[in-house]
Amino acid sequence: MENSIESITEQLKKLEEQVKEISPDAEKRKEIFSSYHALTERHLESLEDQKAYDGSPSDLDLYTLKDTPEDTSKTIATIENDMLPKGIVAASGGHMGYIPGGGIYTSAIGDYLAAISNAYSGVNYASPGAVAMEHACLDWLKSVYGFPKSAVGNLTSGGSIANLIALGAARDHKEILDNIKHSVVYMSAQTHHSAHKALRILGLHQMVLRAIPTDEFHRMNLSELKLQIEKDKAEGLTPSILIGSAGTTDTGAVDPLDEMAGIAKRNKLWFHVDAAYGGFFILTDTAKVKFKGIEKADSIITDPHKGMFLPYGIGAVLVKNAEAVFESNRITANYMQDSLAEESPLDPSDVSPELTKHFRALRMWLPLKTHGVAPFKAALEEKLLLTTYFRTEVEKLGFKTGPTPDLSVSYFWYPFGENENELNRKLMSLCHNDGRVFMSSTKIENKFVIRMAILSFRTHKAEIDKALDMLLENLSKIRS
Ligand SMILES: Cc1ncc(COP(=O)(O)O)c(C=O)c1O
Repeated sequence: MENSIESITEQLKKLEEQVKEISPDAEKRKEIFSSYHALTERHLESLEDQKAYDGSPSDLDLYTLKDTPEDTSKTIATIENDMLPKGIVAASGGHMGYIPGGGIYTSAIGDYLAAISNAYSGVNYASPGAVAMEHACLDWLKSVYGFPKSAVGNLTSGGSIANLIALGAARDHKEILDNIKHSVVYMSAQTHHSAHKALRILGLHQMVLRAIPTDEFHRMNLSELKLQIEKDKAEGLTPSILIGSAGTTDTGAVDPLDEMAGIAKRNKLWFHVDAAYGGFFILTDTAKVKFKGIEKADSIITDPHKGMFLPYGIGAVLVKNAEAVFESNRITANYMQDSLAEESPLDPSDVSPELTKHFRALRMWLPLKTHGVAPFKAALEEKLLLTTYFRTEVEKLGFKTGPTPDLSVSYFWYPFGENENELNRKLMSLCHNDGRVFMSSTKIENKFVIRMAILSFRTHKAEIDKALDMLLENLSKIRS
């Protein structure tokens, strides 16, 4: 009786009724949407007057999940009063620490549409449109960086996974695992730590790693690089990978890419360029020249969630040697047989460790379709000019600045004399407590310095003036 068709039909009816809670009808959707849309509007409208940083801890009890639903107004209050204002307010133009992200509105709409459609963008067969969008974004990136159309690429979750894919291709192309203890990877002391992490994950940590010293502008010192390569060869080692940075995270420097490409070619090195932070400055008339030679790299990474102001969760990798990428990423399974058409566009899953992936192309494609490239270019030019403005004005306040950066990250400190590191740390801490603007600190040759990273599309002159006011006021607290 229990499994009779009548009984099954009855049970299914009941279950279907219960499932309606997670499949709201049009009227209910409108109600839910308008509550959350109102929340996003209040957040966006308050950004200018809100602190960019609040170091107080979150009330963890608010976040506990229970089996039963919570009233929407209570959930919204948790997001609005605890989650959004605490920590770094990443959408704020006052965010000038680490590498500021963005969050442009049309990209958020792209994410909304991506989630609503839930298009499966890992293989072309599942959603040719979604995959075409990813290829359109990658083709645009190829044209920006002077890469050939034949290069393969992938939209990743960020720069770290993009580095992993590129360095995995280098590993396989150079057959490093067969000669790991004698293979050498060259990078500078300023190379981002995600490259080290990628090498470790890829089993390449046993390679010989050479951290090449930098010059006074924190760019890789090429005389030192050349000397080191010759020394390594003389010792019977195999120079294998050269990593350049197009925008160092601590110092905003661009390595001499063109000369590095020449050195890589002469010595048969895989030349990888990390342009995660700085890459999109290639769009500017001012900084374009610094990227000369990037088109000669074997692989590059660049982060649209940095220099294109998209919300966190989108990086990109481009690799010229497709076979090298397939070596570690192309693999299939019996149940995927329907998707293996001969002549279809390349599946994103063949270029990435991901199979199912977030439909992230839409969050990049939609803003480019909607706005074109000009406003992005203008915003990047603005960041470069704001960097010059800030450095000029902060020096007038008595601060010392590091070398002129190539891009929009630079550093400064106050010359307190005695206990300089400690007092600059105190100044940083006072500024964090203040929170009007958020900056972060770093160590340059054991010196404590404050970093200024200008990259948010919401950072304009008013926010830089706010930063200067904040620094001056907190400096006077220490000096009084
Ligand atoms: C130069 C550079 N490379 C790589 C990364 C890692 O990127 P992601 O944080 O997107 O994984 C960063 C992050 O700040 C970076 O600045």
